[in-house]
Amino acid sequence: TSPNANIQKMLKEGTEVTISCSHDDSNLNVMLWYQQKEDNHSLTLIGYGYANIPQNYEGQFEKQFELTREDSLRGALIVRSAKPSDSAVYFCAATHCASGYEAHFGEGTRLTVLEYNVTAPTVKILPPSSKECKKKKKTLVCVASGFYPDHVSVFWQIDGVDVTDGVATDNNAVRKNESYSITSRLRVLAEDWRSPDRTFTCTVTFFNGTGYEPHSDSVHGTAGKSI
Ligand SMILES: *[C@@H]1O[C@H](CO)[C@@H](O)[C@H](O)[C@H]1NC(C)=O
Repeated sequence: TSPNANIQKMLKEGTEVTISCSHDDSNLNVMLWYQQKEDNHSLTLIGYGYANIPQNYEGQFEKQFELTREDSLRGALIVRSAKPSDSAVYFCAATHCASGYEAHFGEGTRLTVLEYNVTAPTVKILPPSSKECKKKKKTLVCVASGFYPDHVSVFWQIDGVDVTDGVATDNNAVRKNESYSITSRLRVLAEDWRSPDRTFTCTVTFFNGTGYEPHSDSVHGTAGKSI
């Protein structure tokens, strides 16, 4: 019964956006909408309501946002003229009544109202530092930089197979001027790194507003060279 919504949206300032929400349990007659800003991870209630009657708004959201409710299973949040300050993750939730019952949350829709041109990342793997040479494990660092906005995810592969063990990716991309960067680290056994036929690939999946673009870099293990 988890409500679902689209996941990522990107739009120009001043345009209109509709974030829709649906679920499949007609007992959950109240739909609530929340905003989560990046700098403050708490959820702020935008408003809520029942089907076929006017929706209720929290004060600061009444002018900017409109909530619609087609029926008990479907609803939408509409931003008529989006501003950069509306960039946030929006969640819908469905529950039995306005308070006191468990709410079922959707996955959330990540909305960015663009301030600059959309730019894809440059991806580069930095090989292990020589300072690590005596250790049993080596750390490869993947740096993605120069991208805007920050709708990215990072994954690693060894010889084309996804790896998650030993992977640590920054929780958030860091903004500097008009672009973002993010790093991810992969720790591998030194013997794997020394194997010249191993290929290590870091792929950054960038959402460009319409689709997902993979941007990768690969390095080969070094054949027993002690670097
Ligand atoms: C965005 O990504 C999609 C999917 O990879 C691609 O087809 C499309 O051309 C890209 N759009 C732009 C503007 O680069």
